[in-house]
Amino acid sequence: MATNIFHTDYPWTSPDAPLVVSAPMMKITLGRLAVTVSAHGGFGFLAGGFDLSPLARDLTEAAEYAKSQNVLLHNGTLPIGVGFQNWGSDLHMAVEALKENPVAAAWFFAPKQLSDLIDWAKAIRTISEGKTKIWVQVGTVAEAIEVAKTTKPDVLVVQGSDSGGHGLAQRSSLLTLLPETADALAAEGIEIPLIAAGGIVDGRGVAAALTLGANGVALGTRFLAAQEAVIAKGYQDEVLRVTDGGTSTTTTTIYDVVRGIHGWPRAYNGRGVVNRTYLDAVHGMSNEENTDRYQEAMKQGDAGWGPEGRLTTYVGAGVGLVRKVMPAGEIVRHVQQEALEILQRSAAPKVQ
Ligand SMILES: Cc1cc2nc3c(=O)[nH]c(=O)nc-3n(C[C@H](O)[C@H](O)[C@H](O)COP(=O)(O)O)c2cc1C
Repeated sequence: MATNIFHTDYPWTSPDAPLVVSAPMMKITLGRLAVTVSAHGGFGFLAGGFDLSPLARDLTEAAEYAKSQNVLLHNGTLPIGVGFQNWGSDLHMAVEALKENPVAAAWFFAPKQLSDLIDWAKAIRTISEGKTKIWVQVGTVAEAIEVAKTTKPDVLVVQGSDSGGHGLAQRSSLLTLLPETADALAAEGIEIPLIAAGGIVDGRGVAAALTLGANGVALGTRFLAAQEAVIAKGYQDEVLRVTDGGTSTTTTTIYDVVRGIHGWPRAYNGRGVVNRTYLDAVHGMSNEENTDRYQEAMKQGDAGWGPEGRLTTYVGAGVGLVRKVMPAGEIVRHVQQEALEILQRSAAPKVQ
């Protein structure tokens, strides 16, 4: 029987199944999705992104939605988390929003420098009297060790190179990153639960991640095809259409350039579907012309997506495994069930 070590801190999560987390995805995972995931035994994160001006309102809406669904507070906190892109986020705004609507966890990602997270963790732990747990997403063994020693998070999210959206340009897949991170932490005598992220889409990925040393998993791309995702139809259609992510997606900074997003730390890029924006950049089109064409494509609505389109379609390398749109709660239950079946089968292999 699989046991979920997170059940004590987060009692709404399924006790006897691997923890399935819906990763924060900027502007896409808001209150409805996060609350629904948590209401079905998972752990949903609402994305704060880097511009926190809508956060207080988004959290109030999440709290109202939770109430309407009879989703209870736990230990005085909403049973969801909030994800921050720390490089651009304002700590004061974060604190104000969290004071009004405390949540069970804050997820940090991509600070300008790792030491910035120390103040963030301190401030959020102080205002919540330790009720809001600190999760930090890292991409290398070195980052994991440094964050573990300095920020001392409650959970480390280890993000491998198949992940969708932003991540470190230089990192390896979960297959090597996860066990090496677990070993390095153990060698330092540090005990922090690990959540695996990057390329996990179904129960097979979950079973593999647990085997490699994870205590739970976070899925991003799979939840792009959740009914509750706030996503354009053209984008979601692409998530279902695209296969063979190793060639149909790429990592690049051009998608931030054409969208006018400045400020990501230089070590990061983003994984998305290869489209005209990317191909034209590779063939030498200037950033100015590429940006103009992107803005034209924005006026086409859903026709602006696709391999010949220009609208940014951040997805992970596992996108080919996402085959239909489902309610977020069903995704959680289905992935957990599949993982349990696989783990049970592999625990009792057939001998010829
Ligand atoms: C469209 C999209 C947006 C994302 N936005 C965020 C974000 O705002 N904050 C964050 O910490 N991670 C973000 N991520 C990365 C996720 O936290 C996670 O690492 C990733 O989705 C895991 O890989 P997967 O997509 O293969 O499941 C995003 C990922 C995607 C696909």
